[in-house]
Amino acid sequence: MKKTKWRAAIIGAGKVGSTLGRVLAEQGHSVECIISRTMKSARAAGKFIGCPAVSTDLADIPSRVNLIMLTTPHNAVIDVARNLARQNRSFRGVAVCHASGMLTADALEPLKRRGATVFSFHPLQTFPRNFPPAHILPHARNIFYGIDGTPAGIAAARRLARALQGHVLLVPPDLREFYHAACVVASNHLTTLLWVLETMYRTLAPGRTDFMRVFSPIITATLANVGSTSPGKALTGPVARGGVETIARHLDALERHAPAEIPFYSALSLDTIRLATASGMLTQQQQNALRGLFERSASTEGKLRGHP
Ligand SMILES: NC(=O)c1ccc[n+]([C@@H]2O[C@H](COP(=O)([O-])OP(=O)(O)OC[C@H]3O[C@@H](n4cnc5c(N)ncnc54)[C@H](OP(=O)(O)O)[C@@H]3O)[C@@H](O)[C@H]2O)c1
Repeated sequence: MKKTKWRAAIIGAGKVGSTLGRVLAEQGHSVECIISRTMKSARAAGKFIGCPAVSTDLADIPSRVNLIMLTTPHNAVIDVARNLARQNRSFRGVAVCHASGMLTADALEPLKRRGATVFSFHPLQTFPRNFPPAHILPHARNIFYGIDGTPAGIAAARRLARALQGHVLLVPPDLREFYHAACVVASNHLTTLLWVLETMYRTLAPGRTDFMRVFSPIITATLANVGSTSPGKALTGPVARGGVETIARHLDALERHAPAEIPFYSALSLDTIRLATASGMLTQQQQNALRGLFERSASTEGKLRGHP
């Protein structure tokens, strides 16, 4: 298979640009320049990636680059693409991508008109703003990239993913927002779930801050079980056993100790009932009884808030 030697320019010296630029450099490709809104970020990324050519001016992108990665925030991508397309340079043979999860390759239309090979290239990974890129780097390989583009763009995306030791997930453009919603479930909602757990742990063990150490074994075993089978096969616990009385007592305990978490617990329990039902774990009677608990708790909550 043909291996491309990338000569890249990175526009947007944030977490994603710094991390992917560094992986590209470590894989033997060349990061030729880094452009950002401020020199401070550009210099910091340049230092991390090992690229001394940094600037705030798109005109400083050398003509020899064959890859331009737009890693600005997604609301700047369209403007940056438009400004880039106005540059007095050739885009023939240049691959241009952006890293936004929400935008398709259409955001790069002005560059496509100038002859660039365009594609979206969204790293399906989390790059937290409070973490330095060096901390994110170990998680940046073997990841998937959500892509779309012209046929040539898709081929270039595959080569770029391979260069970064990653894989591609072809995302139909009309499902782009849906794809991004799935990514939110995978990372942001998981983080929220862990925050709810941390909140509950504070009531359980006041003064202790080691909730992840305590819950890690059950969390990692659950992930491993789902990974080796399926959510339906890995499900355990009171809902899967039709334990109506246990769930009723959980709701009472939550009411007493963490009433703010009842909507979260209820929403996930209702989906757990759907999962257990789909997996053939519950009789119709058990399903009705379990759902009934949450209907009652929702109507009590409604009454408390003055709703019918
Ligand atoms: N964070 C994640 O978990 C994650 C995951 C997957 C995909 N993404 C996507 O990746 C892209 C970058 O995200 P990020 O988290 O790396 O953002 P970030 O850390 O905020 O970095 C964005 C960088 O873009 C620069 N920038 C802003 N406007 C610019 C402009 N007009 N021209 C040039 N540079 C500009 C900023 O520069 P200055 O610092 O110089 O002002 C900043 O350093 C976004 O599209 C995001 O949706 C993010």
